[in-house]
Amino acid sequence: MSHIVDSVSLGAIVQVRDRLLDQQARGRRVLRLESGDPSFDIPIHVREAMEQALRDGQTHYTASTGIPLLRKAIFQKVTTENRLSVPSDDHVVVTNGAMHGLYILFRAMLEPGDEVILPDPMWTEIAENIRLGGGKPVPVVLREERGYQYDPDEIEAAITPRTKAIFVNTPQNPIGAVASRETLSVIAQIAERHNLFLVSDEAYEHVLYDGAVHVSLGSLPGAQSRTISVYSMSKTYAMSGLRLGYLVIHDPLLLERIKKLVRCTINGVNSVTQYGAAAALTGPQEATKSMAREYQKRRDILFDALKETPYLKAFKPGGAFYLWARILPAWPGYDGKNDDWSMTNYLIDTAGIGSSPGSAFGPAGQGHIRFAFSCSTEQVAEAARILPDVLSRAGR
Ligand SMILES: Cc1ncc(COP(=O)(O)O)c(C=O)c1O
Repeated sequence: MSHIVDSVSLGAIVQVRDRLLDQQARGRRVLRLESGDPSFDIPIHVREAMEQALRDGQTHYTASTGIPLLRKAIFQKVTTENRLSVPSDDHVVVTNGAMHGLYILFRAMLEPGDEVILPDPMWTEIAENIRLGGGKPVPVVLREERGYQYDPDEIEAAITPRTKAIFVNTPQNPIGAVASRETLSVIAQIAERHNLFLVSDEAYEHVLYDGAVHVSLGSLPGAQSRTISVYSMSKTYAMSGLRLGYLVIHDPLLLERIKKLVRCTINGVNSVTQYGAAAALTGPQEATKSMAREYQKRRDILFDALKETPYLKAFKPGGAFYLWARILPAWPGYDGKNDDWSMTNYLIDTAGIGSSPGSAFGPAGQGHIRFAFSCSTEQVAEAARILPDVLSRAGR
């Protein structure tokens, strides 16, 4: 019998990154469109709060669930902005990024063999964290003809006596689709009918375009007490390397288990980062808005460029910073099997452009490619300028 950790991959995006970094080390200019790391600096008031915390000697163990200042700030934010209804800040748990939050959440929720419904394609780490929790990921395909929204009928059809939860991510990685209030409401009703948990990953809640509005699943009727909401400071405040996320958990048993796991895994997030996060949540939000405006500019540059190529059909994302495109039969490497990897490798080898093969995100991702536009506007513009030509050269 193999070890459960053996079911986890080393990561397709890591492979792409390593190849790009290798090329860079050999003196080649590379364009980093493979991974979703914001190019921006953290807001100044966040940096100042962290510097102050250091000067004040805030370098000791903290409460493992988070410093009271931060948990209170999070409680205030999620109850007003996200309209979640949790009784107190005791239902907030600060984690080492949303990634760690997801790991301990599935570990706390699942018994061996429990099933979790998730979108296909989906950011790889969700299925992996479900498996690490002993569970079984049950994919439901997001279809292009539905604007890549979950189909509630397909969710319902995937439910079995072992189903424990439905996982929802909006705005979505890797596609950038934004779930409508209607879709979310129907999912909440399904969960209520079948007495399931809902896991709502809202890492990209503030990366929205064209005036789109974020709806928190946990605020909807039927969902309030059964939703575990997952948030991240990585995208909203460009704090990716500082590693801070948080969970909002209504259910008392799950909350108790998660508190135990936080103590036994990290025993509290880096103290200085927590002061920065409190400042981020309570301070001015202009930096977040201006980052979203810049991402929208990048999205438009890249989307317009891809419209020019006969090899890709791009989806215009309403949020997150990813551009998802279907590889068309005109692409010389089109074979319905490995064309996503062949295009990814071709772009690295011929132009130093990073991307991610769609199959890294689940079986339905095969035949697609994801470009992240979280690197600098200059890099995105350069990639947009050369991509149509580089792709057309493959046919010659
Ligand atoms: C959908 C989704 N959830 C969670 C995360 C993890 O964020 P964090 O940096 O807080 O661990 C990511 C990161 O890319 C993501 O795409």
